Amino acid sequence: MGFAQRVGPSVDSGAPPMLRDATGVRILTLTRAAPRRKSVHSPREPMSIAEIFETLDYGPAPESAKPALSWLEEQGGSTRHFVAGEWRDPAGGEWFETTNPATNKPLARVAQGARDDVDAAVAAARAALADWQALGGHGRARYLYAVARQVQKHSRLFAVLESLDNGKPIRESRDIDIPLVARHFYHHAGWAQLMESDAELRDQVPLGVVGQIIPWNFPLLMLAWKVAPALAMGNTVVLKPAEFTSLTAVLFADVCREIGLPPGVFNLVTGDGRTGAMIVEHPGVDKIAFTGSTEVGRIIRVATAGSGKKLSLELGGKSPFVVFDDADLDSVVEGVVDAIWFNQGQVCCAGSRILAQEGIAPRLTEKLRARMETLRVGDPLDKAVDIGAIVAPVQLQQIQRLVEQGVAEGATMWQPSWSCPQEGCFFPPTLFTDVSPSSTIAQVEIFGPVVVSMTFRTPAEAVELANNTVYGLAASVWTENVNLALDIAPKILAGTVWVNSTNVFDAASGFGGYRESGYGREGGREGLWEYVKPRWEAEAAKRGEVRRDREPKAKPAKDAGRPAKGGPTLPPIDRTAKLYVGGKQARPDAGYSLSVYGPGERLVGEVGHGNRKDVRNAVEAAHKAGGWRKATGHNRAQVLFYLAENLAARTDELARRIASMTGDEVGAAREVELSIRRLYTYAAWADKWDGDVHHTPFRMVTLAMPEAIGVMGIACPDEAPLLGFVSLVAPAIAMGNAVVAIPSERWPLAATDFYQVLDTSDVPGGVVNIVTGKRDELAETLAAHDDVDSVWYFGTAEGSEMVERLSAGNMKRTWVGHGRPRDWTDTIQGEGQEFLRQATNVKNIWVPYGE
Ligand code: NAI
Ligand code: MG
Repeated sequence: MGFAQRVGPSVDSGAPPMLRDATGVRILTLTRAAPRRKSVHSPREPMSIAEIFETLDYGPAPESAKPALSWLEEQGGSTRHFVAGEWRDPAGGEWFETTNPATNKPLARVAQGARDDVDAAVAAARAALADWQALGGHGRARYLYAVARQVQKHSRLFAVLESLDNGKPIRESRDIDIPLVARHFYHHAGWAQLMESDAELRDQVPLGVVGQIIPWNFPLLMLAWKVAPALAMGNTVVLKPAEFTSLTAVLFADVCREIGLPPGVFNLVTGDGRTGAMIVEHPGVDKIAFTGSTEVGRIIRVATAGSGKKLSLELGGKSPFVVFDDADLDSVVEGVVDAIWFNQGQVCCAGSRILAQEGIAPRLTEKLRARMETLRVGDPLDKAVDIGAIVAPVQLQQIQRLVEQGVAEGATMWQPSWSCPQEGCFFPPTLFTDVSPSSTIAQVEIFGPVVVSMTFRTPAEAVELANNTVYGLAASVWTENVNLALDIAPKILAGTVWVNSTNVFDAASGFGGYRESGYGREGGREGLWEYVKPRWEAEAAKRGEVRRDREPKAKPAKDAGRPAKGGPTLPPIDRTAKLYVGGKQARPDAGYSLSVYGPGERLVGEVGHGNRKDVRNAVEAAHKAGGWRKATGHNRAQVLFYLAENLAARTDELARRIASMTGDEVGAAREVELSIRRLYTYAAWADKWDGDVHHTPFRMVTLAMPEAIGVMGIACPDEAPLLGFVSLVAPAIAMGNAVVAIPSERWPLAATDFYQVLDTSDVPGGVVNIVTGKRDELAETLAAHDDVDSVWYFGTAEGSEMVERLSAGNMKRTWVGHGRPRDWTDTIQGEGQEFLRQATNVKNIWVPYGE
């Protein structure tokens, strides 16, 4: 399945094996592709009909480059930026060449964006914002619809231009890239229409000016994935395409001009990474959306840390392609073709690691080699070519280097007997066997037509191997046993899992990563959250609200030096609260404590001064609580209700404790009451935050399932010692995460009293771990920790910057408060779906149906 049918030879024989839906998007059909007989690269003599029947061979069937070349001519051989609805020469007067990788010949000169260009584009986007938002959802829907129509009208030109500039086969740009682009704009025209009435979206507002930086592998499609949702939700855009493939973005800008999109709503600045960095660092940009290498993603995470810019990153991958021994091997072979030879393997979610069950591995290898022999590498504009050109010489060299390294490390390399065209950037399909799971080629993203194959024995081993990577973008699972497939899919850490299919995309489904593959989703309802923020937040910012901590009736906690033994100078205190790790109270590693003061500088207690080691122990304990993730929503709800019940039983005690710290008796009683309610809220949600089934126009059921992120670090706000803690920890655990929480630094004693509530409520050990101490010291260790999957931080602006910056180590997800006010007592600001979205990753599982 998957795009397996795409390779059917009848594409060129007048009987397309595919159906199209109303949008022209290809729908899978049930015929299985017949492998090609022979490759096309040798120059051939014209044949008679009889001879053709005899050999069943292919002749070249080139698509004409003419419309694209005349379009380039119309541009005068050079392209310009598109700013405020007008073409703009580069401020620095600099252009660079873009080439056709199939010939290595220049196609056009592209403007290199300089700082003035970026400034002008951001200013134009800012100026256009108010009117674009005032237009309303319906007005924006009309423009997006017009874009979709226009893309379809120019689809041939777009497809040819894309293939010329990028090297991808025309069959792919024509049948996959460009139809999906139109589909994205249609789909998001719909979201624009619904924004004001949809129950979730109507409380959201646009972010503002969005900077978008895209890669070269699906140039126009990545543009559509970014631009469509951004515009639909009322943002304006500054986009930078990749330097190897800017041309279709320029044509797209022309489409925006043609349909009369208001000036400044979409701005295009071309250029290389330097121009990208200028957009990232620009203070006038409210959000960055990036697709590209993990390396640059990391740079962008660090560069935007603390800036308040929202960030979504779609990065690299090393996606497993898991084949169980009951799979239909002929389908699997076509699946591999689509997984790794689609787009020359330059696909972030390419199935680049075949994991085959031991019994069938030799047969699969044999079948694959036979199929590879029939693949055709050559002129991307030839409609009968399977594999086109690698985007640029530098990418070709990287592929060659990694393949050499694979051979040097002892793996067995296999390539078909035929040779590639000598001119241009071509590389043959390549299969590695005898690959060790820790070798370079099994771990590093090659981003070329190279697949490595490994074996496993049991399903558990398959999952372990599949997850043996820093990435988590996609996976495919091949088995005729639907029970097995749906058991394995949730266990693989990846944003997309295709069952008996691969590399299937649609606008209605979210796409995005786990772990070092980045965060945020593109497509579907889940993709819209990257382009909006809660209305209350925007309104508070407009009113210029600054954080006002609760009246500081108490002094901040102070180091108390050596603890416990009750040194003679200390006033009488009841006890030193310990840490809570793995379901047990634990002494802090260093044995130090901190004093907690109430009103009038009265000492009300002491807590352990946790350090790095304590945080690491807590993270380890959290990892051991993996069973919680597998518990049913109902089970988790029961535990949360029980927590509420046991907290209610201690209402007076906790209210007294809070009042002893804050000096506010009325507020303290209310805080306990609200905390009980909040626990009820998340008990309620635990079995109701259940995802979507997306309408993707293939014969597919696409299940969008929210999953626990894993181990989360949570730094709680100072101001609401119990409610702040409960508001953050409860949604995290309700969704199946295990937590390491840092309670209010100033008033930690309510959280430490909560140990008793946890102990009596059947919360499994390790699900909630609490480390008291200096918030930023502890948060620093959590943010830098490679085994922490997400950090929430509600302290200062500086601490928020630190958390975002350090998160780049393993690209963990973050949610920080930037030191801005949030009213924890308010049910809109202090609880709800925002918390649940932040506590989960959406995984899309595609399950095909039909014979
Ligand atoms: P890249 O990550 O450098 O380029 C992607 C985009 O980011 C381009 O538009 C580029 O101009 C821009 N960019 C580069 N440096 C930047 C910076 N400091 N700030 C802002 N923008 C910046 O990817 P590149 O160099 O083209 O390819 C290198 C490797 O990255 C590939 O071999 C492949 O492994 C991986 N890659 C992954 C992609 C994916 O979709 N996951 C897409 C492209 C590349
Ligand atoms: Mg090019």
